Amino acid sequence: MKKLLSLMLAVFLAGCTARTPTEQKIRIGVTVYDQYDTFISELISTFNADIAGRENITVDNYSASKNQLTQNKQVQQMINDGCNVICVNLVDRTEPSRIIEAARKAGVPVIFFNRELVEEDLMQWEGLYYIGADAEESGIIQGQIAADIIRNTAADRNEDGLISYIVLEGEAGHQDAIVRTEKSVGTLMEEGIQVEKLGSAIANWNRSQAQTRMAQYIDQFGTDIELVLGNNDDMALGAIDAYKSSRISEEDWPVIVGIDGTEPGLKAVIDGDLDGTVYNDSRGQAEAMAALAYALAAGESTENLSLKDGKYIRLPYLRITAENAADYLEQASSQ
Ligand code: BGC
Repeated sequence: MKKLLSLMLAVFLAGCTARTPTEQKIRIGVTVYDQYDTFISELISTFNADIAGRENITVDNYSASKNQLTQNKQVQQMINDGCNVICVNLVDRTEPSRIIEAARKAGVPVIFFNRELVEEDLMQWEGLYYIGADAEESGIIQGQIAADIIRNTAADRNEDGLISYIVLEGEAGHQDAIVRTEKSVGTLMEEGIQVEKLGSAIANWNRSQAQTRMAQYIDQFGTDIELVLGNNDDMALGAIDAYKSSRISEEDWPVIVGIDGTEPGLKAVIDGDLDGTVYNDSRGQAEAMAALAYALAAGESTENLSLKDGKYIRLPYLRITAENAADYLEQASSQ
């Protein structure tokens, strides 16, 4: 009997030890909507580097290749594999319900990031979080950068008092596409710039789609285009590609502004091809995600992460022009 009791005690103690977070291996699952998205791949490489610097923690990385059903299956797989926390960059931000259902059933917290689900969905269960940024802010800063350049240069080339612009938009239905366009143009007008819209095209955050659309606009409007607003850097870079392959000489290019501050975006600002961009803090978002995932998995307090409403972390957007682009690039390459 005594033997049995000490055996039971030993088993019990072993169980307790195994549950101590610092000694137990933490497993985090991550699924992104598309591994070829420049901004997302920069965010994920910072996230993986951050996790690699922590002990007792591993990451399972998945890409959903733009398919929500694939992503739902990946989440179920990660739950079955014993992931303690799952980070989800939704394919379709209006379709999180299967993921929420599966995670809630298994008691596995989910950190959604970058593609924002509506608040009612996030409130469905206490184990749901969101990390991203405030889309309005990026549009406002983009509008301010453009307004400053327009005021200080001969951007209004035909001197008709109107700035004729093109917008290259991200995916239809993405919070950042809708809000950035609205706020950017709205801010230009608030800043007293008279504008005239020549066109807007959806290029799905994608550089080559943007190049194709921009080439068509260049054929149609030639040097009448005075401003190009890209909802992200990749599309602004696509516009630059189109100008480089056109017959329009560089002094007749319009003002071109992006959003993100990705490495290729920063290099284009330094080279003088891109007039400015707005830093979408992929590093800050990745680090916040690593810290939150770790805290949730280890059962530690999340107090020092300053979650808004106990659920949201939003990193601020920042202004980037030729004056500070090199500092950002240096920080990115020092990782
Ligand atoms: C970024 C884009 C990216 C998109 C993906 C946006 O916040 O600015 O570059 O393609 O997120 O969801």
